[in-house]
Amino acid sequence: MTRRTLVFPPDAQGIARAAAIIRAGGLVAFPTETVYGLGAHALDARAVQGIFEAKGRPADDPLIVHLLSADNLPLVVRTVGPAAQALTRRFWPGPLTLVLPRTDAVPPAVTAGLDTVGVRVPAHPVARALLEAAGVPIAAPSANLFTRTSPTRAEHVLEDLDGRIDLVLDGGLTSVGVESTIVDLSGAGPPRLLRPGGIAAEALAEALGIAELALPTPGNRKAAPGAYPVHYAPRTRLHLAGPSGEPGRARQVLWAEADRRAARGERVGVLLLVDDRDAAAARPALVTARLGAYADPATTAARLFDALRWLDRQGLDVLLARELADPGSGMGRALADRLGRAAAQGRLGAGRSLD
Ligand code: TXA
Ligand code: MG
Repeated sequence: MTRRTLVFPPDAQGIARAAAIIRAGGLVAFPTETVYGLGAHALDARAVQGIFEAKGRPADDPLIVHLLSADNLPLVVRTVGPAAQALTRRFWPGPLTLVLPRTDAVPPAVTAGLDTVGVRVPAHPVARALLEAAGVPIAAPSANLFTRTSPTRAEHVLEDLDGRIDLVLDGGLTSVGVESTIVDLSGAGPPRLLRPGGIAAEALAEALGIAELALPTPGNRKAAPGAYPVHYAPRTRLHLAGPSGEPGRARQVLWAEADRRAARGERVGVLLLVDDRDAAAARPALVTARLGAYADPATTAARLFDALRWLDRQGLDVLLARELADPGSGMGRALADRLGRAAAQGRLGAGRSLD
């Protein structure tokens, strides 16, 4: 399947062209506030099939349906209870996906045969202009090849999907940088956090008037399909340094490991927190990609996937990182999840070193 992939700026002409492609059953990548999505007409089963082919995505991993407004929910969702209403009012448009019972209008390919559907109303002006011009709901996973890092720039989309999709709308770097938070409200049970993301779980719990969101039942793959342990993976091996939740200790392990590997002649790349810039400056042979501060996870999230892809292009032997933020709260939870899945299994430290 080779086709010519067009790249357009998101001006009136670009949006009109992209919308016509979506309506005709083609594939368009577009920026959202989280990451770039790979969109197709959500109610056209054949168009949706094209997404799975272009990404090499397994058919058991459901897609998120993007809507222009919560007013369009009845098209794809059977019932919107009080909890869903509370969350949509407060957090849409924005990086929140709700899993709700689906209508028969949604093709089974979108939901991987589940009787629920993930829906989200994005905030990015280009995504909104495209939804408006297309006039149909748009199914869109992240616009990367399966298991690769989500794209936060149009260039990342082309790296993975050039020749496999019809058009990319280039809206520059996305602002949030990690995918939406996914909450399952479809069952009789409590609201469940299926994926930490752009909106802090604490803020969602507060809006729902509960202490905290429940987690998916362990072992229930259907509850959180697509949560594959290896995901977001750079081609260069990435190792995580140090114990979780102990930034001081993790920093020591990181620099000891960087020095050990440099001494062996390895070319080492580091995902660099601003807090560590003096240590990096003292090691000029290192290749670093600068993130935010440990206490500023929003800045780090906005840069993380771009930094990973950039480091991956530098021809390095190994990538190192320490935990990027407090893993117990807010955006730190999403960062710990993404970095953990990008990294090779096992942590460095406590006398352990991996080669
Ligand atoms: O920020 C985002 O959410 C981005 C932008 C493009 O909107 N999209 C995104 O899509 O990250 P994707 O396909 O990479 O992740 C979608 C995940 C699936 O892997 C699955 O875990 C979950 O959403 N999901 C979708 N529909 C579901 C459903 N009916 N039940 C449970 N989980 C669902
Ligand atoms: Mg994805």
